Amino acid sequence: MSHTNYHICLLPGDGIGPEITAEAVKVLGALGDRFGVAFTFEEALLGGAAIDATGSPLPEATLTAAHAADAVLLAAIGGPKWDTTDPAKPRPEQGLLGIRKALGLYANLRPVKLFRALEGASSLKPEYLEGVDMLIVRELTGGLYFGARARETGVAGAATGGGEGMRAYDTMEYREFEIERIARTAFEAARKRGGKVHSVDKANVLESSRLWREVVHRLHAAEFADVELLDQLVDNTAMQLIRWPAQFDVVVTENMFGDILSDEASMLTGSLGMLASASLGDGTALYEPSHGSAPDIAGQGVANPLAMLLSVEMMLRYSFDMQDAADALASAIEDVLVEGWRTRDIADADTLPQKMVGTVAMGDLVTERLGAVKQ
Ligand code: IPM
Ligand code: MG
Repeated sequence: MSHTNYHICLLPGDGIGPEITAEAVKVLGALGDRFGVAFTFEEALLGGAAIDATGSPLPEATLTAAHAADAVLLAAIGGPKWDTTDPAKPRPEQGLLGIRKALGLYANLRPVKLFRALEGASSLKPEYLEGVDMLIVRELTGGLYFGARARETGVAGAATGGGEGMRAYDTMEYREFEIERIARTAFEAARKRGGKVHSVDKANVLESSRLWREVVHRLHAAEFADVELLDQLVDNTAMQLIRWPAQFDVVVTENMFGDILSDEASMLTGSLGMLASASLGDGTALYEPSHGSAPDIAGQGVANPLAMLLSVEMMLRYSFDMQDAADALASAIEDVLVEGWRTRDIADADTLPQKMVGTVAMGDLVTERLGAVKQ
């Protein structure tokens, strides 16, 4: 028997976070009505908002709420208010990295799907976008983000002019099991999609990449020989993504390469405001748009809520196994775009002025098309 109640931990975070979270809650309300499921919500603090309220970017209460939930829905964190290069000061990003680590969310799935209606919003010519449909599988709890790092003072030869000064380092480190499990996620995803995996590394330079390549190939030979596997160096991938993006089906890569390549790939879809993500591990999963907190437009009601709503779609699919509801949401979003409605980040020269909408109106349009409008 399927569930009739799902409990969601909401982390609105900073900047435009609260605005797009409100749209997600609205849409989930409509989906709940239509599909006979009750969604309950508990808000918790993360990032800058948490620093302001408690001094910590990831309060204990937030971790407790996240662990207790069926899924976590995170909007965005960060902003100039908390920007600092002082290693002793808390940063919002530590909250995000901390919760990813604490929940064991090693697999970050970022689908890059082109909405036909948005072709004109991409910076690439339409002929280059033909057939673009890829899934970036980013390793999320290892690599440069979590390796040893430090800043040391009084290091001989480190200062300008050669005297004593500061030295800083970050370490890219991977263990076999970390590579194997993310490669498995990628191969399994490829089996359900186009049957092809590009494993992206920098094996011509980095030792961690050479281990990456060996482990990926070993697993491939042992269990996934039916999937096509191609190695690609990360600098080449950066180029191929804009040269011929349709060649990619599943792209699997380490944490920081995945961070950079997914921002790049988002522009194929017209806007970073369209890129959703799911972070999966062995327990509670977390869903978040790939964009940031956009402090420059926070509070203005103009943020695009669609990446957040597409993240809700992923939550319905991966955590709640509500495929019908996910399909309904996906087609509601598609319909709204086909009808020409645009937030300003996805507008183009052909957008009618009367079809330019803000955050709330965009959420309303999607909700209406789900057929259960709540006032
Ligand atoms: C992302 C973001 C984060 C990351 C930042 C905010 C720490 O850029 O989710 O892609 O680098 O992982
Ligand atoms: Mg990023």
